[in-house]
Amino acid sequence: MLISANQAVQNLLLSKVVAIPTETVYGLAGVAIDPTAIKEIYKIKNRPKDNPLITHVSSFSAIQKYLNPYPDYLEDLVSYFSPGPISYLVNLKPESLLRVSTCNLNSVIFRIPSHPIALEILTKINKPLAAPSANTSGKFSPTSADMVEQDLGDKVSGIVDGGRSLVGLESTILDCRNFDKIIVLRPGVVGKKELQKWFSQSKLWFGIEIIESKNSEEKTPGNKYRHYCPDTPLFWLTADLSQISSNEVILTDLATIKKFKKILPPEFHSQLKFINLGLDFKQISQNLYSKLSELDTLKAKKGYLYLPSLRSNNSSLAKALFNRLDKAVSGK
Ligand code: TXA
Ligand code: MG
Repeated sequence: MLISANQAVQNLLLSKVVAIPTETVYGLAGVAIDPTAIKEIYKIKNRPKDNPLITHVSSFSAIQKYLNPYPDYLEDLVSYFSPGPISYLVNLKPESLLRVSTCNLNSVIFRIPSHPIALEILTKINKPLAAPSANTSGKFSPTSADMVEQDLGDKVSGIVDGGRSLVGLESTILDCRNFDKIIVLRPGVVGKKELQKWFSQSKLWFGIEIIESKNSEEKTPGNKYRHYCPDTPLFWLTADLSQISSNEVILTDLATIKKFKKILPPEFHSQLKFINLGLDFKQISQNLYSKLSELDTLKAKKGYLYLPSLRSNNSSLAKALFNRLDKAVSGK
């Protein structure tokens, strides 16, 4: 059921759980210091009980009171990159009420989303909102109200429709618990490059190292769980196109589809099914989860991803996209 931002605030104040739009993906929101709401989020998502929830606030000052001492650079970093698709892992005060949503961990990940509706709800409610991605655990994140409706429609106390999520991939997560280094735990549209540029330009902060985590498994409890997988077995395309049968689908970019149609003999045209992921990184990222959902509705036997010319790209968005694609592929 679609509801307005005001209705969402009302429901949240009654300990209910609602889906809200953000610029990355839709979130399943409940008041982060309300045990009833938090319990309900775990139930709706069927989320493992030891997987902590990310908190959303409207400003840095709204999270400050819950935190243990944090690195000097944090406030400047947040004021430059947020609101936006980036989250910060920091230490919590021992008695912090937010521990209700962090599985009692002594740390929290917080984010200030830039989607105007998310910000409106956060400002009106004036409380932190726990909001993991609004999907059943193990599935990919929803990037439209429709996708939430299909997955969780009958379980949530309303969905606020804010259009399609602009970025389409989950936020970058930075471990900001150390005073001398930042670890990128989850790649996103803002990455090492952008952070290094900011650090080198902001004259105040010298010598802070930016590390891309290779084994985020150990660092982020949530990473031990399966993510981003469609129901249809998905593989990278390595075989010859002639091996592909008519109940299999190739997911690729528009230019490649056009090229294939030009060079392939006509008998292949009726046999090969394509899903067009988009024109460029921005579109492919934005479309990714809705296209994986489309793949599932086709009930194909297998899906094949084919994006060879894009893999070598070094942008933060490309790295984030291939991180999600590699996780969506079966048998890894
Ligand atoms: O873009 C996003 O970040 C979206 C939107 C809705 O804001 N949210 C999102 O939440 O992607 P979620 O729960 O799907 O991913 C957050 C990840 C999970 O893997 C979780 O395990 C991890 O962050 N996490 C949350 N709190 C943590 C903590 N205190 N320590 C370590 N990992 C944590
Ligand atoms: Mg998620």
